[in-house]
Amino acid sequence: MRPKVYITRRIPSAVVAKIQEVCEVEMWQEEDIPVPREVLEDKVKDIDGLYCLLTESIDESLLQRANKLKVISNMAVGFNNIDVEAATQRGIIVTNTPGVLTETTADLTFALLMATARRLVEASDYLREGSWKTWSPMLLTGQDVYGATLGIIGLGRIGESLAKRAKGFDMRVLYHNRSRKEQAEQVLGLEYKELDALLKQSDFVCVLTPYSPETRNLIGERELSLMKSTAILINTARGGIVDEAALYQALSNGAIWAAGLDVFEEEPVKPDHPLLTLPNVVTLPHIGSASIQTRTKMAELAALNLLQALRGEGPAHRVN
Ligand code: GLV
Repeated sequence: MRPKVYITRRIPSAVVAKIQEVCEVEMWQEEDIPVPREVLEDKVKDIDGLYCLLTESIDESLLQRANKLKVISNMAVGFNNIDVEAATQRGIIVTNTPGVLTETTADLTFALLMATARRLVEASDYLREGSWKTWSPMLLTGQDVYGATLGIIGLGRIGESLAKRAKGFDMRVLYHNRSRKEQAEQVLGLEYKELDALLKQSDFVCVLTPYSPETRNLIGERELSLMKSTAILINTARGGIVDEAALYQALSNGAIWAAGLDVFEEEPVKPDHPLLTLPNVVTLPHIGSASIQTRTKMAELAALNLLQALRGEGPAHRVN
């Protein structure tokens, strides 16, 4: 019998065809609407493989309905949407898509840093709304990036790739991580710092750590108060790592200078969210890895992981 697979969103048809060579496939067809929970609860009962996105919560109550599920293949590097422990207890393999999105996400992180530092969105809006009257010495002035100090919280693959970009801008690069990365320190000239020291010394703080109970609200009121009043916070990891209410306060009262956010605690973020009312916030709809090439590679890798697990081969990108 061919294994049954459910795919929770439309993915490139060549990738679907590859899975269809060996599996019976059903796919949620809406591009812009996540699969409703009731549909997923129904589908999960009778499938061998689940191909899902970070928009689906694969929790214990869903897994209780899975009678023969062998693999959950997440088309993302982060897997905080999945209760990995509950999956492991049931002998279900969980996989993710690391590596292929590293450079693209580092590009976006650096682009967001530049856009926030030089107020690109605000400047573009200013011009389009007809406010531009004349060249003026201090009009829309931002913060220098070249030669500034960057603090990276979470030095994984993306953090190291971001550091390479920063080195091209002659930046001093500090990092904080659970473990020291001595090779990266030597090769890239990075400096390890305790979190508080990094926050105090950095002109730009980039959050790139995985999201877990330990990193929830890692950046809160106390941490923001340690940062320079000219500092910029960039988050391209997960929204819940930064306490959004504390960030709003810090940005409103000048405790920090600006923020660039690709991620939010609740996604999609509501258009009336307080952070979106601030001129010194640049916001994006979670597009860190969104290049055509990279999203295609992620879709292919998630399919490969799924098929390897269904064939009983240990998939390369297993997280449990
Ligand atoms: C995107 O946020 C991912 O985890 O791949």
